[in-house]
Amino acid sequence: MSDLFVVEDLTVTFPTSRGPVDVVKNVSFTVGRDDTLGIVGESGSGKSMTALAVLGLLPRGARTSGSVKLDGIELLGKSERDLRSVRGNAISMVFQDPLSSLNPYYTVGLQISEMYQTHRGGSRRSARQVAIDALDRVGIPDPARRVDHYPHQFSGGQRQRVMIAMALCCSPSLLIADEPTTALDVTVQAQILELLAELQSTTGTGMIFITHDLAVISSIAQRVLVMRSGDPVEYGTAEQVFSAPRHEYTRMLLDAVPRIDDEVAL
Ligand SMILES: Nc1ncnc2c1ncn2[C@@H]1O[C@H](COP(=O)(O)OP(=O)(O)OP(=O)(O)O)[C@@H](O)[C@H]1O
Ligand SMILES: [Mg+2]
Repeated sequence: MSDLFVVEDLTVTFPTSRGPVDVVKNVSFTVGRDDTLGIVGESGSGKSMTALAVLGLLPRGARTSGSVKLDGIELLGKSERDLRSVRGNAISMVFQDPLSSLNPYYTVGLQISEMYQTHRGGSRRSARQVAIDALDRVGIPDPARRVDHYPHQFSGGQRQRVMIAMALCCSPSLLIADEPTTALDVTVQAQILELLAELQSTTGTGMIFITHDLAVISSIAQRVLVMRSGDPVEYGTAEQVFSAPRHEYTRMLLDAVPRIDDEVAL
């Protein structure tokens, strides 16, 4: 069976007043079924642009080249109409800030069931049940009641759970999570990571997890791509990247990760 998701030589270019600038340069990676790829790098390294390019969601003016294949089907260059049927369906994305991605004027149930109906059709009643089940799956207590609540009635961690429920409601083959835990406190971060890892192992969804924090992906990724200034500086299995990094920059990122056995300077 072929790999689920194969990206080859992906380049993203922006026109600027000083000429074209490549913000993602010849990035290649593979995500297998059941696999999590961690993309890590400092702010501005091109992590989000990589994810947005894959979904055809880049800001106006950006150009892409290379190849992005899901189940052997090329996505780069597909029409907006075709991509719309892929987004939220075969590939879905969870963003950093759930408040700006959820509509404050609609109940979470309506937002999840609309997403479901857009791609899968069916009755309102059955879509509502899908929403209740999805909320249940991501650990929202009393989902049959909570389904009628608005985003502001949920805590930050719960809102992120709602986003994950929405992303998973159409059983995507690939889930892209772009810094989904950055806005959360450390304990809630850990709970969301645990939830994602658990959902992934039960649903078999491939996952791309984007973060600037190498420590976060050490527990969930099988493969790691390290980016700096748009360049893919290192790509390998998590084991190799963590235990025998080949690049100086990766070593530097690893050194910045606090360890439990670090001595505390008083
Ligand atoms: N509209 C644009 N025009 C030109 N350059 C842009 C545009 N949008 C983003 N960039 C540049 O693209 C580069 C990559 O940005 P990107 O958002 O992918 O970084 P990132 O790795 O996701 O960072 P962060 O960790 O802060 O989210 C940055 O240097 C940014 O300045
Ligand atoms: Mg980003």
